[in-house]
Amino acid sequence: MRAWTVDAQGLRLSEVPEPALRGGGVVVEVLAAHLPAYTNVVVSGGRGDLPKPLILGPLCIGRVTAVAPDVFHVAPGDLVVDTALLDAGDGDEILVGWVGLGASGGTARTDRMREVWRDGAFAEKALCAKETIVKLPGAENYPDPARLAFLPWLCVAAAGLHTAGPLAGRDVAVIGATGQMGGAAVLLALAEGAATVTAVGRNKVALDRLAELGPRVRTHQLIGDRATDAAAIGPVDVALDALGATPTADATMAAYDSLRVRGTLVLVGGVRQDLTIPYGEFMHRRLTLRGSWMSDDETVRTVWNLIRSGALDLSAVELLKVGLDDPESALDLAERTSGLSFVALVP
Ligand SMILES: NC(=O)c1ccc[n+]([C@@H]2O[C@H](COP(=O)([O-])OP(=O)(O)OC[C@H]3O[C@@H](n4cnc5c(N)ncnc54)[C@H](OP(=O)(O)O)[C@@H]3O)[C@@H](O)[C@H]2O)c1
Repeated sequence: MRAWTVDAQGLRLSEVPEPALRGGGVVVEVLAAHLPAYTNVVVSGGRGDLPKPLILGPLCIGRVTAVAPDVFHVAPGDLVVDTALLDAGDGDEILVGWVGLGASGGTARTDRMREVWRDGAFAEKALCAKETIVKLPGAENYPDPARLAFLPWLCVAAAGLHTAGPLAGRDVAVIGATGQMGGAAVLLALAEGAATVTAVGRNKVALDRLAELGPRVRTHQLIGDRATDAAAIGPVDVALDALGATPTADATMAAYDSLRVRGTLVLVGGVRQDLTIPYGEFMHRRLTLRGSWMSDDETVRTVWNLIRSGALDLSAVELLKVGLDDPESALDLAERTSGLSFVALVP
């Protein structure tokens, strides 16, 4: 079969053997996989250690073709999402086919996990650990399964937002709403009944598209001054930071400043800066600061039910499809795609 492989020489389209079923495994025909905007950075080593060689690709929508004898929660024919998250407990987690180690930051056990479960989903077929597979009941009837490749990003955003409690009737801000994770968070907060959603970012075109989602959406174009940005964003009950790598923590801290008393700031983005939190002020404002990484099966089911019921309409998201033929052009397109647009690999 054809697959995108990465080795010391980089990323390329390769002919590889079809995955062989083994204990604890599920083989899926890959229907579509989201290409994150920063995939080029992941391949070039800018986001941490990628175990090589491997078939790249963290997440996909697939149709199950075979299951090992010890797999009972899915069966051939089911449409599923591969969440890539393999959790051994005690913080030892890996994302199969990608960078990212969980709370432990990497141990001898995560090394062993990455030896056994290494290959990802940017291929015609994938062998997935059963723990990474969640069934999407009724997805066979969804008109365009490739569009569902956006579901994992919605789930990461949802898991983050849910740490702040129910969103209905509350004011939510999304910092980095102009990226795909932020766009997903805006859609999710609207679907779950937020009173207002303030979309914050730099890209004016992406902000204008978000504003078209409806009258509950406000936008703020970051100007780069913490106090001015905070005043324009807030006051809000919940702020989700979904920024990519930024040179300073100013935008994140503007979100922190914009919180109401008892507000929550949730961090899910790619910012690699330290945050200076004033102890007394944090205490007196009774704030919560939460981190959130990936999502859990229950969140996947909740988000899928929002889509299935029509409460979250994926037609608001522009889908750009690419095939396996030209990985370099596909990754370049993904890098140039932001906001409510995303690139799906359809092998
Ligand atoms: N927590 C998790 O489980 C999880 C899972 C997946 C991904 N992530 C993280 O989520 C982050 C966002 O992902 P993404 O797909 O949306 O793509 P991304 O390309 O990493 O993020 C783009 C966003 O970051 C903003 N941004 C980038 N550089 C900036 C700067 N210097 N100043 C201000 N804003 C800046 C962009 O704003 P403009 O476009 O307006 O310039 C846009 O809103 C990623 O970095 C990734 O690490 C986290």
